[in-house]
Amino acid sequence: MKNLRTLVGPAAALVLLLLQSFGSVSARDEDICRLFPNNTVIRDPESCSKSITCIDFVSHYSTCSGSTPFFNKDTGACVKSLSDQSSCSISCSDSVTQFLADPKSCYGYYYCQDQETALYGTCPQDHHFNATTQTCSRQHESACTTSTFEYCYIVKDGVRFDNRQGCNQYHVCTKGVLESKTCSNTYYQASTGTCQDKALVECDAHPLPSNVCGTEKSPKANKFVSDAATCRGYFYCAKQADGKPDPSPQWNQCPADRFFDAKNRTCRLANQVTCTADRCDGRTLNFVVSGTKGCRNYLRCSNGVTLDEKSCGNNFFDEEKGSCVQQITTYPVCT
Ligand SMILES: *[C@@H]1O[C@H](CO)[C@@H](O)[C@H](O)[C@H]1NC(C)=O
Ligand SMILES: *[C@@H]1O[C@H](CO)[C@@H](O)[C@H](O)[C@H]1NC(C)=O
Ligand SMILES: *[C@@H]1O[C@H](CO)[C@@H](O)[C@H](O)[C@H]1NC(C)=O
Repeated sequence: MKNLRTLVGPAAALVLLLLQSFGSVSARDEDICRLFPNNTVIRDPESCSKSITCIDFVSHYSTCSGSTPFFNKDTGACVKSLSDQSSCSISCSDSVTQFLADPKSCYGYYYCQDQETALYGTCPQDHHFNATTQTCSRQHESACTTSTFEYCYIVKDGVRFDNRQGCNQYHVCTKGVLESKTCSNTYYQASTGTCQDKALVECDAHPLPSNVCGTEKSPKANKFVSDAATCRGYFYCAKQADGKPDPSPQWNQCPADRFFDAKNRTCRLANQVTCTADRCDGRTLNFVVSGTKGCRNYLRCSNGVTLDEKSCGNNFFDEEKGSCVQQITTYPVCT
């Protein structure tokens, strides 16, 4: 990458960059809590009796027991029975002193103490419950498979959660129906369940801005365009055989300390490029000049993210020295 840091213009060099480091999507952990805001409580998709509290994207389980063995996702309480549509309404009326399978789990079962009282239990590790034999048998002898689940059966109405379809998208259940929503001009922050400034949200794959490669009438062919989300990022719109706009342009980033200049479509020194996204992105410096007028303000950066904006008072910020100086200092971005 370093040998390309002096890059100024030719499309050929940018194409080379495209091939080098196309952003890869990091591996996903399968914990369901990766989708939920901190401290959200949901029902375990694999049990009618367990709840999950999501703390820092990790599942923490609790189990309802005794005479209130079912978890109600709407009230967050353990209840005697469930009548919602989540197929957790188990009836003991015909099964007194018998065991019933947990409809959501191969491991769980209910013991019907009387016509109204189900007690929850789970099989030992590596054992599945079998309603026919009324016992827990070895998992490899079992034909049980866990069923798929509906999010709105385990999440209460109004809770936003990540749908992993793009940084600006999330899901919410409304009256038990799953809806897909889009944050406008912002990104969805999974930890807080809110739409936030793009700079504040980590995003592996920036969604395509609308008409990023132009319109059918005037497509952008073999052109570099801003990703409208970061200062370094851009898309390459390739010429299409059918003459239409490129439907899936490739994303890439300028080298360290350079930003993409949408005007002449090149990577230039960061302090020469006007950009309102996070100016700490991709910087090797701990302090960078802010885009605020007068060149008196600077940003404190940490790991490529802005911590805060500070002022030099009546002095000016010098990026090279990384400090405030008396001498008038100007950068194109803040003049
Ligand atoms: C998430 O919630 C837990 C428990 O309330 C808290 O300790 C933790 O700091 C929170 N995490 C964040 C990122 O706020
Ligand atoms: C339960 O056990 C019976 C008898 O061994 C067997 O035929 C059946 O397939 C088992 N059911 C499941 C779901 O494993
Ligand atoms: C890009 O445009 C700026 C002015 O907008 C100019 O100063 C700069 O030299 C241009 N860079 C190239 C490589 O053409």
